[in-house]
Order: sequence, then C-alpha cells, then structure tokens
Amino acid sequence: MIRINVEVIFMTEQLEIIRGKEVGQLLQWEDVQKMKYSWNVVCEVMRLSPPVSGAYREAIKDFTYADYNIPKGWKLHWNTNSSHKDPTIFSDPETFDASRFEGAGPTPFAYVPFGGGPRMCLGQEFAKLEILVFMHNIVKRFKWELVIPDEKLKYDPMLEPVKGLEIRLHPLVHSQIT
Ligand code: HEM
Repeated sequence: MIRINVEVIFMTEQLEIIRGKEVGQLLQWEDVQKMKYSWNVVCEVMRLSPPVSGAYREAIKDFTYADYNIPKGWKLHWNTNSSHKDPTIFSDPETFDASRFEGAGPTPFAYVPFGGGPRMCLGQEFAKLEILVFMHNIVKRFKWELVIPDEKLKYDPMLEPVKGLEIRLHPLVHSQIT
C-alpha cells in the first residue's frame, strides 16, 4: 500500500512536468525545482541504503563520546547507517517514509548520505540534479521493471547491486504518458 502511494504521488509530480511541455521540449532548471516529492523519495532511499557507508575524521582535541574517551589525533570512522537507522532520530527506521523529508526535514547531522561539515560532499547539488534528470527521463520514456525484484546490495566499497541491477525497459509512446 505504501509503495503504491509513493508511486502515485511521484508519478503525479513527474506527469505534471511532462504535461506542461511540448513534445521534444527539454527539461529546464525550473522543472527540476518542482521535483520536491521526487527528491524526498531519493532522500528516503539514501537514508535506508546510503551509497557511501561513512568516511574518516581525525580528532583535533580530546573528547568523550558515549562514555568513550577519544584522545586528540585518533582516527575515527563515522558510519552513515548508525544514524540513519537510529530510532531516536528516525521513528520506525526500517519503514520507507518519504514524508520524513517534508518541511524542515531531519535534524542537522542526523541524515548524512553526503557527509557533513567542511568536508561534506562537494558534488551534492550536482548529484541531485543528475539523479532527478535521470529519473525524469526514465519514467517519461519507459515503463520499467526489475529483472531480479529482491536483488541484494553490497558495499564494495560503494553500495552496489550484486547482479548489476538489470531492468527491463518498455518504450512508451507519447499517448501513453499524457
Ligand atoms: C549520490 C551521490 C553521492 C554521494 C552519496 C556522495 C557521498 C559523499 C560522501 C559521504 C563524502 C564524504 C563527506 C564527508 O567526509 O563528510 C563525499 C565526498 C566528496 N564527494 Fe561525493 N557523493 C556523491 C556524488 C558526488 C559527485 C557527483 C561528485 C562530483 C561531481 C562528488 C564529489 C565529492 C568530493 C570532491 C568529495 C570530497 C570532499 C572533501 O573531502 O572536501 N560526489 N561524497
């Protein structure tokens, strides 16, 4: 039921953009700004399955965290999943719920697929644009289905589908999307 709702709201947003264009008219920056729900869906996917599992930092001073005394100079690994799946931050953390990103969204540094602080991902906005444009063109041109519906994912070192995420594409004619 949740999955159907996600697809319906996502497709409604995308179809509104498609319908507002002449055939062959390209996507514009303003169109991408309208993809708010679509981006919330991507964010929730990256919360549940972060593409990067974490990164490294060096302690610049002694500090205490969760009863551990961390001396200055120690190398630390921060892990994306440990905050993305923390029930004190994200209620019912295993459930897909794109509405978590509505309004102000999660508290700062709770949702970190792109890291955080001064060394945060430099390509975040570019990645956002690429993902939304890609998604738009896929749903505009094709009906698609997963060849292996329950394909497993692995970190190597980035998250990737073990069989390469094969999909079956069925080209749409214009009348099927409007
Ligand atoms: C979904 C796509 C992407 C994800 C999830 C992602 C995630 C990350 C993460 C977790 C970090 C480490 C941040 C930290 O340590 O706080 C990082 C760093 C970085 N990313 Fe990305 N990234 C993505 C796409 C991109 C793209 C498209 C580019 C460039 C076009 C890019 C360029 C960089 C660079 C240059 C850094 C190093 C920043 C620094 O150390 O100052 N990333 N990314």
